[in-house]
Amino acid sequence: MEELHEEGKIRAIGVSNFHPDRVMDLMVHNDVVPAVNQIETHPFYQRTDDAAFLDEHDIQHESWGPFAEGQNNIFEHDVLTTIGDRYDKSAAQVVLRWLIQREIVAIPKSVHDERIAENFDVFDFELISAEMETISELDEGESMLGAGLPGHQSCASSYDRRRDARNSCKRGLVAGRTRRSPPERA
Ligand SMILES: NC(=O)c1ccc[n+]([C@@H]2O[C@H](COP(=O)([O-])OP(=O)(O)OC[C@H]3O[C@@H](n4cnc5c(N)ncnc54)[C@H](OP(=O)(O)O)[C@@H]3O)[C@@H](O)[C@H]2O)c1
Repeated sequence: MEELHEEGKIRAIGVSNFHPDRVMDLMVHNDVVPAVNQIETHPFYQRTDDAAFLDEHDIQHESWGPFAEGQNNIFEHDVLTTIGDRYDKSAAQVVLRWLIQREIVAIPKSVHDERIAENFDVFDFELISAEMETISELDEGESMLGAGLPGHQSCASSYDRRRDARNSCKRGLVAGRTRRSPPERA
């Protein structure tokens, strides 16, 4: 892929279902930083850590399954329909607006013309910060859709564990430096 990129045959390289530790591996061992990472993201699995990581590395966060594939009765969800009623919008449109305002690209899927049109009709209203905050409380912090990879959860926590380990290692080094006795002279 990098060769194709260098030859100008492709404009960008994107990845999907990469957790931060995998993205980091990819960046460390390759020259081209992926332009986009498509990951399961919706109100019940909001991926705030992933979003911060991707933002930090200038990689576009893209949401697959923005409607959680209909789970948790999302299209009739009280919180989302209550907010939507204020703007004469559906729960689906509220979800898409919430993603857009988080600067996450959404790729909703529908086979119905009227729903496809509805899903595009999200650029004439704006959620206020209190509404963004209310939706943030729906996060359950876990994949509902399988995330496309076995063991994805342990991947995410392995990134956290590595970060924690690095931090405690740094703390240990600092503490070790202050505690270590000078080497004995022969
Ligand atoms: N990278 C990956 O691992 C991965 C994994 C899964 C999916 N994806 C991609 O992500 C995209 C979307 O994901 P998804 O299809 O899994 O889930 P989704 O977009 O969260 O949900 C799709 C479901 O929502 C319904 N829907 C869409 N718009 C609606 C609206 N306005 N009102 C009510 N219902 C609505 C659709 O029904 P109708 O079609 O009957 O309207 C369909 O049942 C697809 O392009 C898919 O290829 C990527």
